[in-house]
Amino acid sequence: MPSDASEQESYVFRQRDETESSRLNFQHTIALKVSQGHLIHPSIDISSLKAVADIGTGTGIWLEDLQQQVHSQTRLDGFDISAAQFPSASKCTYQVHNILEPFAPEYHGLYDLVHIRNMVESGGYLQWEDFDFERIVTTGAASPTHAELISLTCSFFTGLGMSLNCSIRVEETMKQAGLADAIREQRNSYWDKSLDSDTKNWCWQSFGGFIPKAVLWSGKAKDEETAERMINEKLQVLGKEYQSGAVPNFAQRVIVGRKA
Ligand SMILES: C[S@@+](CC[C@H](N)C(=O)[O-])C[C@H]1O[C@@H](n2cnc3c(N)ncnc32)[C@H](O)[C@@H]1O
Repeated sequence: MPSDASEQESYVFRQRDETESSRLNFQHTIALKVSQGHLIHPSIDISSLKAVADIGTGTGIWLEDLQQQVHSQTRLDGFDISAAQFPSASKCTYQVHNILEPFAPEYHGLYDLVHIRNMVESGGYLQWEDFDFERIVTTGAASPTHAELISLTCSFFTGLGMSLNCSIRVEETMKQAGLADAIREQRNSYWDKSLDSDTKNWCWQSFGGFIPKAVLWSGKAKDEETAERMINEKLQVLGKEYQSGAVPNFAQRVIVGRKA
């Protein structure tokens, strides 16, 4: 297992603190609305699930919500490289595990739904959700600050070796790996105007969470203090542009495949 320092380094957001946990939980509420209330893709029969793994579970918010909908005997396991955001009390189980490391044999073939990663039994499903970062654009009034911050975000993530739209690759990989009936859906928040204030808050909070690191990475700020000051100024302008009618899109993608 990595040290705390390397865990933190691997996380693009500033700290695994209460603010970040709230941001993740808030992000989850928007994702749920954007998916029209479906925690699990409607092609999967929720009542049949016996064991579910959530990989990179964070605060466990997805698993905790799922726990309300599944049979009381359903096993619900969350895994993350860090335990810092795990819930303090839960009916689900949470374990520290780096998904780049192999899982112990007792987990192989155990799950009939893996949310994100590949430990699926025959007939089981893999559901992967992520953002299409380049499509997190605004409509309504123009927001040059949003465009600038998304551009910096994309450069930062690409510089770290992260994909900006991994859903395309995931779908291809699922098909190559023989997962049947792979579905890739493009979801967004445009269909519901009542989400406008949520998506503005989400973008504003998310930029606040990782842009200071991105600014440091880009060399535009010489130290953390300068980066914080620069981003606070940017966030003020961003807030005004959002107030003037610019609305960001929650550009989420979901990919579902079934192991033959
Ligand atoms: C953006 S958060 C998403 C949390 C949660 N899935 C959600 O949607 O609310 C990404 C999570 O992946 C975890 N993570 C990143 N790299 C990981 C790895 N190699 N192994 C396990 N978890 C990892 C992070 O610690 C973090 O909690």
